[in-house]
Amino acid sequence: KKVVLAYSGGLDTSVILRWLIETYECEVVTFSADIGQVDSLENVEANAMKTGAVKAYVDDLKETFVKDYVFPAFRANVIYEGQYLLGTSIARPLIAKRQMEIAAIEGADAVSHGATGKGNDQVRFELGYYAIDPDIKIVAPWREWDLNSRTALMAFAEKHGISVPTTHAKPYSTDGNLLHISYEGGILEDPWAGPPDDIFTLTTSPKDAPDTPEIIEITFEGGDPVAIDGKPLSPANLLAELNQLGGKHGIGRIDIVENRFVGMKSRGVYETPGGTILRQAHMAMESITQDREVMNLRDSLIPRYAQLIYNGFWFSPEMEVLQGLIDSTQTHVSGVVRLELYKGNCTVQGRKSDHSLYSEAHATFEDDDVYSQADAEGFIRLNALRLRIRKLMQRKEAGR
Ligand code: ARG
Ligand code: SIN
Repeated sequence: KKVVLAYSGGLDTSVILRWLIETYECEVVTFSADIGQVDSLENVEANAMKTGAVKAYVDDLKETFVKDYVFPAFRANVIYEGQYLLGTSIARPLIAKRQMEIAAIEGADAVSHGATGKGNDQVRFELGYYAIDPDIKIVAPWREWDLNSRTALMAFAEKHGISVPTTHAKPYSTDGNLLHISYEGGILEDPWAGPPDDIFTLTTSPKDAPDTPEIIEITFEGGDPVAIDGKPLSPANLLAELNQLGGKHGIGRIDIVENRFVGMKSRGVYETPGGTILRQAHMAMESITQDREVMNLRDSLIPRYAQLIYNGFWFSPEMEVLQGLIDSTQTHVSGVVRLELYKGNCTVQGRKSDHSLYSEAHATFEDDDVYSQADAEGFIRLNALRLRIRKLMQRKEAGR
């Protein structure tokens, strides 16, 4: 029997690797995705083999991650519950998809992951697996075993001689990639307790950020960013560069309480420096290139779209329909946006496009001969018709 395990190399998945071997007497193939997380994957293959894997895949998925997952979502200015840019949510379907490809290559009987039975990630992984192979067997150790505390995990690791890098021994849980880093649990479980200053890894505190603002220009083509300051960059390199810039100026920190799919509220602290800049810039690009009603219609669907991603329905029929609609609105979202980065803020300073719908001739406060101000009188009177009739009715009722 053979199992493909999504393996980060941390304490949890290292213990799972050995636990699978002990419990199911199976062979374990590990799969580690490089999606730009800060924690190095340098020794991950050696560690997997040392812990008992028969084979270890380490795949660089950075470009695919940004091009096929991050960018499509940012075409919609996606945001969950008004604040969360979905950094973890959007990476899970990619990991699930590649893991299933490996399971097919290896002729594996099952797949496994290290997400707990209380979270969103289990749902996202497993909905992904099932959408790709309806008959796949899934092993979710956190829902099966009795190693339900950090101490129990450590004891198991010690007993089996599993060494775990100390960088993972933090008093909270994190997940990172090119889009963000998340911090949850442990010392953050009290929603009244502020996050410790030293928790942050991608951004400097706005308090320590440079005293001089920095101006950047982002070029868009068909809804996606393609260059910074005129320099063309691949999707992953572009996001990495925006992370650098945003990190330096303390942009993209949030501290929220969010609603998990399984029903509980959960406190999370996130750093999304590049994503925060990108979302601002994209909205500014759309502000001159997008038709009002198209934008309004699309925007009305974004809470649903964000919820689909958050809840793990990336590979679903409703998602295909929605993404198709979103993509179809992006043809003319091309041009350049100029932004100022300064002490935690990212402010738009300029936007231009060959497809601009902004008409200075129509908008000007100066005299013009394209817009007749007299037309506005009838426009307003007809729009007021319902309001006037309602008031007349109210007056009549009051007089009775
Ligand atoms: N709460 C966020 C989400 O559901 C982050 C989850 C982080 N996952 C983790 N394994 N640390 O998208
Ligand atoms: C987990 O429970 O494994 C992490 C948090 C989440 O998935 O929401």
